[in-house]
Amino acid sequence: MKFLNPPTLFLVIISLTMCSDQTCAMNSMYSSHVPNKGAYWPSWSIDFPPSAIDTTLFTHVYYAFLSPSNVTFKFEIDYPTALSLKNFTTTLHEKKPSIKTLFSTGGAGEDLKILFSRMALGHDSRKSFICSTIEVARKFEFDGVDLDWEFPQTPTDMVNFRHLLHEWRVAVKKEARSSGRPQLLLSAATYYKPEITLDNVYRTYPVASINKNLDWINAMCYDYHGGWDLTATGAHAALYDPNSNVSTSYGLHSWIKAKLKKEKLVMGLPLYGHSWQLKDPSLYGIGAPAVDIGPGDKGQMSYIEVEKFNAQNNAMVVYDLSTVSVYSVAGTSWIGYDDVRSVKSKIEYARTLKIGGYFFWAVDGDKDWKISQEGMLQFYIQF
Ligand SMILES: *[C@@H]1O[C@H](CO)[C@@H](O)[C@H](O)[C@H]1NC(C)=O
Ligand SMILES: *[C@@H]1O[C@H](CO)[C@@H](O)[C@H](O)[C@H]1NC(C)=O
Ligand SMILES: *[C@@H]1O[C@H](CO)[C@@H](O)[C@H](O)[C@H]1NC(C)=O
Repeated sequence: MKFLNPPTLFLVIISLTMCSDQTCAMNSMYSSHVPNKGAYWPSWSIDFPPSAIDTTLFTHVYYAFLSPSNVTFKFEIDYPTALSLKNFTTTLHEKKPSIKTLFSTGGAGEDLKILFSRMALGHDSRKSFICSTIEVARKFEFDGVDLDWEFPQTPTDMVNFRHLLHEWRVAVKKEARSSGRPQLLLSAATYYKPEITLDNVYRTYPVASINKNLDWINAMCYDYHGGWDLTATGAHAALYDPNSNVSTSYGLHSWIKAKLKKEKLVMGLPLYGHSWQLKDPSLYGIGAPAVDIGPGDKGQMSYIEVEKFNAQNNAMVVYDLSTVSVYSVAGTSWIGYDDVRSVKSKIEYARTLKIGGYFFWAVDGDKDWKISQEGMLQFYIQF
């Protein structure tokens, strides 16, 4: 907060005091200019409780993840999870009353794809899911819900996704009217671009419905390369790729070209890297021949772990201008990741595009808040 200059602070206070719990035109006008600076909190990170989150750096924090029952499509929350949910929202709201907390449902995993596909298929199952998200959000004092369906697999899934968004917004509006509370926020984590051709099935997100029914989307601008392709190293969150369209710049432009409202587009930034074992340590560039995954958990390492690895192994660290990414090399170990410089450039890029903001996966991967702070310093007022 200390970076806010007095006129801005004044504006914030005015807009807050003029807002009742009812819908407030001024608040929504103002909020469209406030950058969305989000971070996901993995609820399984044992040594990183919600109290460890530096809330001055974020506007939105997501609880990752909750899954609905694959039979009833409702959330069946056990006692430890209930405590964890309550602790998350209470801790964050106490530290920073204006912060928005959302619980994220879904995540990576084959089972979840199938579960969401089945849930979205019928009106009754969508209704069960929707009602349960609202109940859970209200019960545990969340400000909203984030749907992390990775990813709708067919054109039919996309049609059902569209029905879901529409019905979800109708339900959320209705609940707000009857409870007299602000509407719950609705967001979704999406593929880095609106068109998906994975598994040779072409499908595209319902952009008009997203504009109408979601508050924003978190475009996952990472995992472009990884342990699923062992033949060559890759910049897994490249801003640019001179040889292909698999890049953040292409993804963001594609969303804008598909007419997603710019302020609803939020760019993903990874606080982790992907690693490979080089075939020949003297060939170490991006795209160099590889033979296996490298250090880390199945070839993935958080930024903290990468920094530690680099120090312990006296790694060579290279900033690659053509992709706006970083890699480190120690012997045959190769790690591609983002650091303060690359994130700074990406946020500058996002700001030039005038999109809604950025988010990190995941909040516990930063070291001494070095990367997260970069966004805060640059974008505390305008974005
Ligand atoms: C639901 O999930 C359980 C455990 O994850 C699994 O055993 C079961 O087969 C699933 N049921 C359906 C209908 O997918
Ligand atoms: C949250 O959990 C932590 C660790 O278990 C505990 O110290 C803290 O008091 C809890 N906070 C709230 C608000 O429940
Ligand atoms: C990239 O996308 C553009 C249009 O979106 C297309 O014309 C071009 O062929 C693509 N390039 C590659 C390398 O796939």
